[in-house]
Amino acid sequence: MATERKDMYLPEREFVEQANIQSRAEYERMWKQSIEDPETFWGYIAKDFHWFKPWVKVYRGEPEIGDNEWFIGGKTNISYNCLDAQIEKGRGDKVALLFQGEPEADCKRFTYKELLKHVCRFANVLKKNGVKKGDRIALYLPMIWQLPVVMLACARIGAVHTVVFGGFSAEALADRMLACGAKKLVTTNGYWRGGKKINAKANVDRACMLCASAGLTIDDVFVVDRMVDFDVPYIVYRDTSLSKELMLEEISDFCPAEKMDAEDPLFIMYTSGSTGKPKGTLHTTAGYMVYTYTTFKYIFDYKEEDVFFCTADIGWITGHSYIVYGPLLNGATTVLYESVPTYPEPDRFWHIIDKFKVTTFYTAPTVIRSLMNRDIKWVEKHDLSSLRLLGSVGEPINPEAWQWYYHYVGHDHCPIVDTWWQTEAGGILISAIPGAMGLKPGSAALPFFGVKPVILRARNSGDEPAEEAEVNEKGELCLASNWPGIMRTLYGEPERHISGYYTQQPGYFFSGDGAYKDEDGYFWITGRIDDIVNISGHRLGTAEVEKVLCSHPGVVEAAVVGYPHPVKGEDLYVYVVTSAEWEGNDALRDELKNLVRQEIGPIAIPGKIQFVQEMPKNRSGKIVRRILRKIASGVGNEIDASMLNILAEPGIVKIIDKERIV
Ligand code: WTA
Repeated sequence: MATERKDMYLPEREFVEQANIQSRAEYERMWKQSIEDPETFWGYIAKDFHWFKPWVKVYRGEPEIGDNEWFIGGKTNISYNCLDAQIEKGRGDKVALLFQGEPEADCKRFTYKELLKHVCRFANVLKKNGVKKGDRIALYLPMIWQLPVVMLACARIGAVHTVVFGGFSAEALADRMLACGAKKLVTTNGYWRGGKKINAKANVDRACMLCASAGLTIDDVFVVDRMVDFDVPYIVYRDTSLSKELMLEEISDFCPAEKMDAEDPLFIMYTSGSTGKPKGTLHTTAGYMVYTYTTFKYIFDYKEEDVFFCTADIGWITGHSYIVYGPLLNGATTVLYESVPTYPEPDRFWHIIDKFKVTTFYTAPTVIRSLMNRDIKWVEKHDLSSLRLLGSVGEPINPEAWQWYYHYVGHDHCPIVDTWWQTEAGGILISAIPGAMGLKPGSAALPFFGVKPVILRARNSGDEPAEEAEVNEKGELCLASNWPGIMRTLYGEPERHISGYYTQQPGYFFSGDGAYKDEDGYFWITGRIDDIVNISGHRLGTAEVEKVLCSHPGVVEAAVVGYPHPVKGEDLYVYVVTSAEWEGNDALRDELKNLVRQEIGPIAIPGKIQFVQEMPKNRSGKIVRRILRKIASGVGNEIDASMLNILAEPGIVKIIDKERIV
């Protein structure tokens, strides 16, 4: 790359010349229109889609309170647009999905025509078994090709999917099914992970039992037979083998796409909030479709011959938007890999890139950090010359990881788009457009079309008006506009939708992240400012973990905070006050870890547990987590008099710091 500016990596001329947007001026012009005249801007883009009935009005809403309606009156179907519409455009024989199972030989290619056939057949099986438009259906599936197929099958018939990450426990799965009233579920008999066969069905059976005892009877469990010779018990009347159903003669290759209203629900994605209960972000049909399509096209500078590989799990929003919907809506070839980057060796991603001639690779900083710790030969032995663009998501990317990614993976010529967004957003909100602007390592660069971020100063009281921060002044990252992909509400909790996002800075969407904006208008995200911790790119509410810990008879009080972790980005540090009968020892530590594993899942197992006599509390009895965070991060020396002054018992801070677990 040319380096005309010391602090910026400017795109090479060859990249710019082929780019979908080629200059900052062009980007600025488009951005300005998207903000000033969203109806013309998005209306024009939406013409790229198939509509059963055109919309009457592009947009109506009030960004101050999260009220949104897009493509009002229009009828469409996202599954139709991902598949049928691509075939109509001549892409029928183009590869839509490349599936790489954990065993190297387990590799499948699906053209658009083939994918459509599978989707229709799965949709017909679901329909035959009573799944209807508007039904919520949980998908507890690993990264196998059937997962996108089932998602598209649900979308085709109007069933609302809620994909639950396979790393969640039975309890967490049941919580989510109960929260949205999902009476049907799709799962698998098992899958591969790091050379081991994992049984997913046992968790499902337990989750169904938990649902039943909470009053929700699960009518149907559909089982994908991922593993051959892997017998799992079937419960008669409830469990159905999908492969057996698919063999039935009556199952046709054709299933008409339901004419969905633009604002009909498409999916619910659960994410962590600052209270114990996960939040069900509700995404609707047309706006999400238009937004994921557009972000994919411009941010990944999509070209017809590209092969796109996103390593996120489909159980999270990134996989929804950038393995499944965004790529397919563009008629792209998307790669789905079942397993971990280190199996059988720590070069599996690089191997897959060469094998499928991947052009665009999208991963998380935690993955990069874990791979850069390995012998450099693992990456150097691969060609990687098919790559032309790299992406990063999930947390701020540290400069070392950025440089390593740029040099060893991108061979010093692939731009890296650092994409900032969240589950609530549906698609990327802040990112470089790679042909249009230079990159600054560590900065997510500029807002995408329709997105108007502002940095606001923290407010101390409810009456203070919102106040914008100065250039380079850290503040709270908020959003002042609506964009088509934004969630419409929290499923079943409309009040929490408002109180959780629109009251911290009244009139703005509060992202929960800290950030500042530099003199070039580039955004630098500094991390969460609320009680959410980002572990290996997985979002987790500390309150959720505290609730679980407090359910143990030995725990009187628990406080959970994040602390920096060299690979995971952050990890959980737990402070526990035990009850008189319990001793704070390793046995109790193990019990608490197991409890968290069982109630939430392995991702939430705390890295460190410290037993303390007392928590630092303010005079009204509230635990001051700010102090605990400093101690956990090893910067107890930064706790100054102003912080200690608010405590009822300042003396205990010294003791806690002294006994810190290193
Ligand atoms: C963090 C994932 C810095 C951020 C798409 C956000 C990032 C949370 C970035 C959302 C990035 C995501 N730079 N931080 N490029 N991308 N984050 O809902 O704290 O799982 O609020 O969505 O991840 O996580 P979520």
